[in-house]
Amino acid sequence: MKADQPALPKILVLASGSGTNFQALLDASRGRDFPGQIVALGCNQPKAFALERAAQANVETFVVNHKEFGSREEFDAALMAHILRYNPDLIVLAGFMRILTTDFVRAFRGKLVNIHPSLLPKYTGLNTHQRALDAGDAVHGVSIHFVTEELDGGPVIAQAEVTVTAEDTCETLAEKVQQKEHLLYPIVVRWFCEGRIQLGDEQVLFDGQAIETPMRLTDN
Ligand code: GAR
Repeated sequence: MKADQPALPKILVLASGSGTNFQALLDASRGRDFPGQIVALGCNQPKAFALERAAQANVETFVVNHKEFGSREEFDAALMAHILRYNPDLIVLAGFMRILTTDFVRAFRGKLVNIHPSLLPKYTGLNTHQRALDAGDAVHGVSIHFVTEELDGGPVIAQAEVTVTAEDTCETLAEKVQQKEHLLYPIVVRWFCEGRIQLGDEQVLFDGQAIETPMRLTDN
């Protein structure tokens, strides 16, 4: 970067597990023209494989183990203290399997995005692939949304669909959805870093205009 160029927006990722979405973001952020920089990875699970991925990529990490805290509020306060050290422009929840308190969510309003493995508003919460199979859905998918106080209920920025076939199992469906996740999250993070998406009062603004329906990834 040249000296007179502004610093890139700072992205902090929170994950709990394997971190394949974190990896997709890392890979994308290594591209020469990516408009953001991943400054740290935070985990609540000390053994999360995502931590190994960060180490491989020389990304700073921190662990806030939820089991060491007596309440959600204390855990979130400790998590927030770690996050604030990096002063991030964007916090990306990438398989971060903790419910966040209202105080935490409000503190980072408009800077906090989550990926959820369903076509929201369908199937908030857990076991989304099995629930789509049980319901006989022909189409399933993934959503990326701004995080608000309502669990998995914030305005949806973008979605990608997968076709459900008669042969699909929970595992094959999860695999198909994850392939879409790895394409979609870097696109949305790029938009955010470019200043193209913002959280309005109760809706997503894209290039300053409220969107009626989520943006769709259409490649197949
Ligand atoms: C992803 O499939 C993501 O959609 C899901 O966790 C997985 C994490 O995978 N998130 C949720 O269920 C949030 N409620 P990863 O660790 O390989 O990125």
